Amino acid sequence: MQNTHDWLAIEKTYDSGVYNKSDFVIVRGEGAYVWDAEGNRYLDLINGIGVGFLGHGHPAVVEAIKAQAEQLMILPQVFANDKRAEFYQTLVGVLPDPLSRIFPTNSGTEAVEAALKFSRAATGKKKFVAAMRSFHGRSFGSLSITWEKKYREPFAPLVEPVTFIPYNDVDALEQAVDDDTAAVILEPVQGEGGVRPGKREFFSAARELTRKKGALLVIDEIQTGFGRTGKLFAFEHFDIVPDILTLAKPIGGGFPLGAMVTTPEVADKMPKGGHGTTFGGNPLAMAAGTAAIKTIVEGRLWERAEALGKVFLEALAEIRSPKIREIRGIGLMVGIELKEKAAPYLKRLAEAHRIIGLQAGPTVMRFLPPVVVEEAELLRTAEAVADVLAHEA
Ligand SMILES: Cc1ncc(COP(=O)(O)O)c(C=O)c1O
Repeated sequence: MQNTHDWLAIEKTYDSGVYNKSDFVIVRGEGAYVWDAEGNRYLDLINGIGVGFLGHGHPAVVEAIKAQAEQLMILPQVFANDKRAEFYQTLVGVLPDPLSRIFPTNSGTEAVEAALKFSRAATGKKKFVAAMRSFHGRSFGSLSITWEKKYREPFAPLVEPVTFIPYNDVDALEQAVDDDTAAVILEPVQGEGGVRPGKREFFSAARELTRKKGALLVIDEIQTGFGRTGKLFAFEHFDIVPDILTLAKPIGGGFPLGAMVTTPEVADKMPKGGHGTTFGGNPLAMAAGTAAIKTIVEGRLWERAEALGKVFLEALAEIRSPKIREIRGIGLMVGIELKEKAAPYLKRLAEAHRIIGLQAGPTVMRFLPPVVVEEAELLRTAEAVADVLAHEA
């Protein structure tokens, strides 16, 4: 009979070792909660780092996966499929014109890779402009436009040329975008970079400038998309429509799924065979994605995210602690920047209060609560945060 310790030891022995693993062995999830191997329940306010906007095991998604698993799981994109067609129609149905051409992927980084290749193919230009503190993924292309030097530098040479500008700095953007710029790539709220919301004037300028210079505007909504920020898509906060949108995390309702969406004008410039994927667009993921999108849209769940986010931010604002530098957030994407390292406080939050949050950079405590969380659970979290900050790290 295995116990918690064994699972942890086995995983630590055989794992690649790239993660700092916590001491919990999580074996089950339902809604906003997960359970460890000893039966302890935790309020999971990261839900797969933003994947579980609908919480763990949403019945609509589970049912769709079960039914499709028996029907057909894999099919190359050279063959059409009912579930893929339904997914395309559902996704395009919730997007503004002219975002109507989809490249389905299995992850966020693959959606970003597609965005980079489609940008170069469509413009014939080479350069990418990204923001300082950006995070777009870990494969070579997405890593090249990710800011954190410790992620990038050991793996150089990466894709070039890339110019990084300060986020929300219109002047720097104007200087960086030139006639060789293929695309400007931005997160509407920087997630990994510390939960930093974008400014409307910056995104308006990015839209205008890219148009003027013949570059594309890529908005990375892998963390912000599908309701988390109080709008179905965060770019709606800025009244703009990008040329390319990258999606992942919540789009599959917990199942691995991503997508790059673009305009017919861009898509038509990618040569046949210019990009591809074996697993992307498989009917199982498509069924999960359709169920997740329909659940979010039919329930107008971005409205609940906005309301709950306000309650959570107001409760956190009541905390009087000299350790807090700033509390930032939008909808159910919340960061508490401390004047010291966040990790010990997050550890204590999990151990003493059984609430799971995560870091965004060394000093930010980040929460990405699922939309199924109850208001009382967020109020309890604010009290728990106050408690852990009241003690020594
Ligand atoms: C904004 C953003 N882009 C891209 C990614 C990469 O996604 P994935 O981990 O699925 O490759 C992430 C992941 O955290 C993200 O937050």
